[in-house]
Amino acid sequence: MLGRLNHVAIAVPDLEAASAVYRDTLGARVSQLQMLPEHGVTVVFIDTGNSKIELLEPLGENSPIAAFLDRNPAGGIHHICYEVEDIRAARDRLVAAGARVLGDGQPKTGAHGKPVLFLHPKDFLGTLVELEQR
Ligand code: CO
Repeated sequence: MLGRLNHVAIAVPDLEAASAVYRDTLGARVSQLQMLPEHGVTVVFIDTGNSKIELLEPLGENSPIAAFLDRNPAGGIHHICYEVEDIRAARDRLVAAGARVLGDGQPKTGAHGKPVLFLHPKDFLGTLVELEQR
């Protein structure tokens, strides 16, 4: 069921400053800013060849990463994203195994225009897991 690692997402308090760290210090190519109001974040992507890094900054009042940044004011790894072939089949299998899907359990369109779901970190070794349909 589990496919390749699609990205690691890092929540940051200041996306411009974080982008500069990756661009200027690490020498990475950083994408344009993308605002995703339905997800409550602004993102940039860094293509590392075999995977991607996403830097996330809160957008709007009820950003899902606001509480995380309250606990981690300097930023930190927020979630990891794995690809799956069929997101609804993956969800049904995980729910049958007792895992909790966040929200209403229906896939939403993610930052790459593909359906995504989030799984409860307490069911996955303390790590928030995103699934993205390939
Ligand atoms: Co993500």
